Amino acid sequence: MRRKGSGSMSVKSKWTKTKWLRADRALRRFVPETRRFSRSSLRAMTGRYRTVYFKPTDGTGGSGIARVVRLSPRRFSVKKDMRTFQVSSAGSLYGRLKGIARGRSYLLQKGIALRTSGGRPFDVRMTMQRSGGKWVPSALFVKLGKRNKVVTNYHQGGKLALIEPTLRRSGCSPVQINRYKRRLKTLGRQTARCFDRHSTRFKELGLDVALDRQGRLWILEVNTRPNFNALKSLGDKRLHRTVMRYGRQYGRTR
Ligand SMILES: Nc1ncnc2c1ncn2[C@@H]1O[C@H](COP(=O)(O)OP(=O)(O)O)[C@@H](O)[C@H]1O
Ligand SMILES: [Mg+2]
Repeated sequence: MRRKGSGSMSVKSKWTKTKWLRADRALRRFVPETRRFSRSSLRAMTGRYRTVYFKPTDGTGGSGIARVVRLSPRRFSVKKDMRTFQVSSAGSLYGRLKGIARGRSYLLQKGIALRTSGGRPFDVRMTMQRSGGKWVPSALFVKLGKRNKVVTNYHQGGKLALIEPTLRRSGCSPVQINRYKRRLKTLGRQTARCFDRHSTRFKELGLDVALDRQGRLWILEVNTRPNFNALKSLGDKRLHRTVMRYGRQYGRTR
């Protein structure tokens, strides 16, 4: 665990953070099954789930991520960046993923079918910040993925947008939108409590939450050093101002 100039504790390993979440009784069901990449975990995960995400344990910004889809018991399609290829055995799938990993540690995670809005997949970013002794859900917005990408990140062509119009366009009623917002805030508070049990020096958390097509919420990852800069791309600058205002309380300067 490291403490950076932001005034807040930072943990890079997605494996460590996922284990914390999966060990929390209230949060466990919101975290897609995740395993460390190996020949045997690959076999197990691709057998159990039609779609599996392959993510660098220490990755950020959506880089190095691939999506594996099982087409038949032995045939798989792999998509990374704008490229797709197919393999026709579990062994060659393992070999190709090893090639992508290039010696770095990787995770396998159950793939979630993201909801779409205007034809684009999206997920939600919930920012939690500490103010005084309390955790505050300070910003809630969505990341709309670029078509043809397997990630929605801003640095991969994703676009930030406000949550209400995005959910409305994806077919939600005002009642459903309010219910989602309440559930997201509860999830944010539960996650902050979980991280507090590991260190009281966490001051900010950025949850990436997927909404699937059945209406379930899934925590894809928790960022301990969320990037606030992308919020400047929103026409409405209030969200950026809000997170910066909370950030100054614990010594974040940018
Ligand atoms: N299990 C998953 N199912 C569906 N989409 C996923 C999954 N994991 C990641 N993604 C997509 O990839 C993006 C980046 O993954 P994430 O775990 O947040 O890593 P990073 O640290 O690179 O942002 C997510 O915002 C989401 O769009
Ligand atoms: Mg992310």
